Amino acid sequence: MTIYNFGAGPAVLPRDVLLQAQAELLDFRGHGVSIMEMSHRGPLFEALFEEIESDFRSLMAIPANYQVLFMQGGATAQFAMVPINLLRGKRQADYIVTGEWGQKAVSEASRFCDVHLAANTAVHGFVNVPDELEVDMASAYLHYTSNETIRGIEFKSIPDPQGLPLVCDMSSNILSRPVDISRFGLVYAGAQKNIGPSGLTLVIVRDDLLGEVLPQQSRLFDYRQVASQHSMLNTPPTFSIYMAGLVFKWLIRQGGLVAMQGINERKASKLYGCIDASSLYVCRVHPGARSCMNVAFYLQEESLYPLFFSQAAKEGFLQLKGHKLAGGVRASIYNAMPEAGVDALIAFMSEFERING
Ligand SMILES: Cc1ncc(COP(=O)(O)O)c(C=O)c1O
Repeated sequence: MTIYNFGAGPAVLPRDVLLQAQAELLDFRGHGVSIMEMSHRGPLFEALFEEIESDFRSLMAIPANYQVLFMQGGATAQFAMVPINLLRGKRQADYIVTGEWGQKAVSEASRFCDVHLAANTAVHGFVNVPDELEVDMASAYLHYTSNETIRGIEFKSIPDPQGLPLVCDMSSNILSRPVDISRFGLVYAGAQKNIGPSGLTLVIVRDDLLGEVLPQQSRLFDYRQVASQHSMLNTPPTFSIYMAGLVFKWLIRQGGLVAMQGINERKASKLYGCIDASSLYVCRVHPGARSCMNVAFYLQEESLYPLFFSQAAKEGFLQLKGHKLAGGVRASIYNAMPEAGVDALIAFMSEFERING
């Protein structure tokens, strides 16, 4: 039986990547030891690290005036590091809230500054992205979450920060389609969805925003210090970085982010199509904001959930349960979820509805 893992994160990795890691695990490319056992300061890891950063830069088309930082602490640590580094003498930041992760970012930022909400879609139950923003120009930056993982809400275009530096939590849709990095002041993403295993957080930050950090912070939280030491102020998560490197090579082999966008949109539109055509399943997210990465939906008949999840698991469809804050079903169909997995899920859902609907 083929297993398909629809977990939201840590999430499915490309099978080819796992096979390569397995093949190289005991003896990394003829060096006699595992990559996990090598010094991060040795010439071998340094060369590998340079290649990994260069692959990431070329996949994302990152302009030369942006630093790429390989950090730890997950996206959650960035909820604090963003205000710590980007307030630059100002006392307020603007946030767009379209779901629970945006709310968490606000709550952490509130420990460092005043937060002004440019938009908050909570009143409508988090089913859409905002039509309009009220940006306060006194703010140091505007922050948003490009894809809200819990309820599957995705911005299809980049919001207009009206002159403020734009900051994006791209944790759950980075690398799923091309983005124009020059529109952003800073982008961050935890690795465990589209990049690799957890333990690594990528930050892309424009040079001119670096340099003014809140006083008395650890050097590890100071982007400028991290950049000046090429993310090696202390021991980086070497194995997660190596795995991310394998994922980047895999993405390049797939044809890069333009190709991934085509595949991702096709997978998502098939699955939403199945939901919309059925009378058992319903998606509450506005069609213009439906995530290509996390497809969240509900069963019209509450009592069928236990049967749905148990039959799904029996047939190899794992981790379909919605987040506890949202309930329902969530199929995360990141880059590494093969189209065959989506097709198989649709076949299962249709058959389940035929029998039980
Ligand atoms: C959009 C988004 N932001 C932030 C986080 C928190 O990430 P981490 O657990 O890496 O801190 C998540 C985790 O799922 C997420 O999906």
